Amino acid sequence: MLNELLFKFASWLDTFQSSTDLHESLYMYAWVESTHVLTLMLFLGMLLVIDLRLLGVAFTDVAASKIVERLDKPMMIGFVVMVISGMLLFYAIPVRSTQSIWFRIKVVLLIGAGINAFLIRNMTRSTDMAWDNDPKPPKRIRVGAGLSLALWTGVIAVGRSMAYDWWDCHKEMPYFMYWAAGCVNEMAAYE
Ligand code: HEM
Repeated sequence: MLNELLFKFASWLDTFQSSTDLHESLYMYAWVESTHVLTLMLFLGMLLVIDLRLLGVAFTDVAASKIVERLDKPMMIGFVVMVISGMLLFYAIPVRSTQSIWFRIKVVLLIGAGINAFLIRNMTRSTDMAWDNDPKPPKRIRVGAGLSLALWTGVIAVGRSMAYDWWDCHKEMPYFMYWAAGCVNEMAAYE
C-alpha cells in the first residue's frame, strides 16, 4: 500500500519537464549535489563542535550554552541549505530515490536525528542549566549528543551509498528486498 503510494507520487514528479531538465542538466545537477556535499562542512562541522562539548570531550573550558549560542545559527543555515539541495536532488531523480533502500533508511535516520536534536535543544535551553560550566554535562545530555553523532554519521553513510546500485530494483533480489526498496513492479512480477 505505502510502496504503491510512494511509487505513484514519485512517478507523478517524474512527469514534470523541470525534473528531467534538472537531472539531464549540464551543470545544474552537479552544482546542486556539490552544494549538498559542501554544506556538510557548515552544518555538521558546527554540530560536531556542539556535540563534542555536550559529550564533555572538547572545549570543556567554555560554557556549553556559549558554544550552542554561537554555533546554532550557522548550523541551522547549513541545515536549511542541506534540506533544500536534498529535495532538489530527490526531485531530479524521484523514482530511483524513492526506490532506494539507502534513501529510505536515510529518511528514517533524518527523522530520528531531528527528534533527538529537538530534545537536546530543549535540554540546553531549559532554565536548569546549572551544569553549563561543568566540563562533563549530565548523562542525559551526553547520551543525546552521542546519539546525535551516531545518527548523523548514519545519514552521511547511507547518503553516500545512494550512488551505488547494489540493491536497485533492476537487480536480482529476494522478495523482502524488493518490498523494503519499494520495487512495486518487481514485486508484482515476483508473485
Ligand atoms: C539534512 C541532512 C542531510 C545530510 C547530512 C545529507 C547527506 C547526504 C550525503 C553525504 C550524500 C552523498 C553525496 C555524495 O557523495 O554523492 C547525500 C546524497 C543525497 N541526498 Fe542527502 N543529506 C541530507 C538531507 C537530504 C534530504 C532532506 C534529502 C531529500 C529530501 C536528501 C536527498 C539526497 C539525495 C537524492 C542524494 C543522492 C544524490 C546522488 O547520489 O545523486 N538529502 N546526502
